[in-house]
Amino acid sequence: MTGTELTHGTEWWRTAVIYQIYPRSFADANGDGMGDLAGISARLPQLKDLGIDAIWLSPFYTSPQRDAGYDVSDYCDVDPLFGTLDDFEVLQRTAHDLGIRVIVDIVPNHSSSAHGWFQAALAAGPGSDERARYTFRDGKGQNGELPPNNWESVFGGLAWTRTTDSDGTPGQWYLHLFDSSQPDFDWDSEWVREQFRAVLRFWLDRGVDGFRVDVAHGMIKAPGLPDYTPPAEGGSMGGAPASALEPGITAETPLTAPYWAQDGVHEIYRDWHKVLAAYPGDRVLAAEAWVDPLSQMAKWVRPDEMHQAFNFAYLETPWNAARLKAVIDESLEAFGNVGAPSTWVLSNHDVVRHASRLALTGENLQGHGIGPKTVGLPDTALGLRRAKAASALMLSLPGSSYLYQGEELGLPEAVDLPDHAREDPTWFRTNGERYGRDGCRVPIPWEAASESFGFSTGAKSWLPQPAEWAGLARDQQDGVAGSTLELYKHALTLRREHSLASGTVEWIDGFGPEVAAYRNGDVTVVANTGAASVQLPAGDVLLSSEELVGRTLPGDATAWLRSVEA
Ligand code: NOJ
Repeated sequence: MTGTELTHGTEWWRTAVIYQIYPRSFADANGDGMGDLAGISARLPQLKDLGIDAIWLSPFYTSPQRDAGYDVSDYCDVDPLFGTLDDFEVLQRTAHDLGIRVIVDIVPNHSSSAHGWFQAALAAGPGSDERARYTFRDGKGQNGELPPNNWESVFGGLAWTRTTDSDGTPGQWYLHLFDSSQPDFDWDSEWVREQFRAVLRFWLDRGVDGFRVDVAHGMIKAPGLPDYTPPAEGGSMGGAPASALEPGITAETPLTAPYWAQDGVHEIYRDWHKVLAAYPGDRVLAAEAWVDPLSQMAKWVRPDEMHQAFNFAYLETPWNAARLKAVIDESLEAFGNVGAPSTWVLSNHDVVRHASRLALTGENLQGHGIGPKTVGLPDTALGLRRAKAASALMLSLPGSSYLYQGEELGLPEAVDLPDHAREDPTWFRTNGERYGRDGCRVPIPWEAASESFGFSTGAKSWLPQPAEWAGLARDQQDGVAGSTLELYKHALTLRREHSLASGTVEWIDGFGPEVAAYRNGDVTVVANTGAASVQLPAGDVLLSSEELVGRTLPGDATAWLRSVEA
């Protein structure tokens, strides 16, 4: 085998390292300052060199880009910003030739308001079949002037917008759990279900290896759409209802929002499971479901539903040995109970990058983004140390890991973005009260000496890149011992060589409360979350996130050793 062949029938996703590409910010081949599919194709060999197994592409479909492409107006075409369907074919062929699988995003909770389906619903008027595809309701109050219920948008403000009828008078309201440009479908509609089966088949026919399913905990809403007031801190995607027991939440407060995690979603995924199963080659469904606790989230990956779910409980765990041990145990148990692999993730395009997040000193910051006025901004050097240590721990764990573009370079959150450059709807819908997610979406640096650090063939980048990112550019780290990039490459090589992803976790005690140490097959992993150094056990050192002093592991560092038989 050449190492670039894709083998079938292997359930490859159980152990895969999946690299998230955010197309707007990965690589721009046409010089307009916006990343594109041709740019991605050109850079794929560098991802091969990194050692990943698959890529997940955030949406590149036709879209007005009001929510960076998560507002889709044609599910079966490529937005001209990113290229064409032919460019997608080239990208996928290039990836497959390199032995890299391709997962695309599907956005089934809502479309763009510019989608023909929604425009038809507006035109057809109340009571029509077209309106039944979305969540339209009459307003409350004498003249329908009040929204149908009190739900708030995840991005801030009301979750309802009133329409205007063709004669200019105010009409019904439509639900949008996100931006007003993202109307929620009504999944009770068989027509909607059939359209999405067709969308899945459209991409499966083109050869994609799977789908990351956006808002996989949404889609079905509780009958009657009852009022609900969420906890104050719901995370960036509004999830985590069950554990957010905070002041203001009483015993009477329902713990599950009537728009999240409703039982009816599972029927949809069972249906989609069958759609995928009709295709050869282990196609995968990965749930973006912000559901707490993990034992609940595991329902999304029961054997006849999805294959993976993002482990947001892990992402939300602070850099603390006891908490990490607890969430690792909980994850392996919850997913293991339903026969699914655990996944692990530290960063994505919706949260503060972990090289910043793990050193924030303020409270409850990650859900709302960080910016220049944030109190408790991180010490960059400490953040990077912790990020390297946390990634080294994550990549040693059994299961499948997700990486977010740029974390292999140790990129921190871009904190000092000028207000006028910001694009996240969260920023606008909260009048700048929440910074939102632009800081983790800044185009990544490839070459220190090039314009836009090699992100683009031109000088522009749709969000400005911090000047100090020159030092983090890929070409400054490639082949450089001690760099973050080399740490990732080395970890991915060892992970494969020692079959860590299909291994087990056996905790080792005796290192004190700030250390999480365990054995996975023939490798011992020691993660030191404290500031004080610890003495390493016997065994050759295979990898270390920081330079060792003799056999001493410094604070905020992780090492892998060859286990010595007792
Ligand atoms: C989750 C996506 O990851 C996020 O970027 C998007 O804004 C929302 N879903 C709405 O589609």
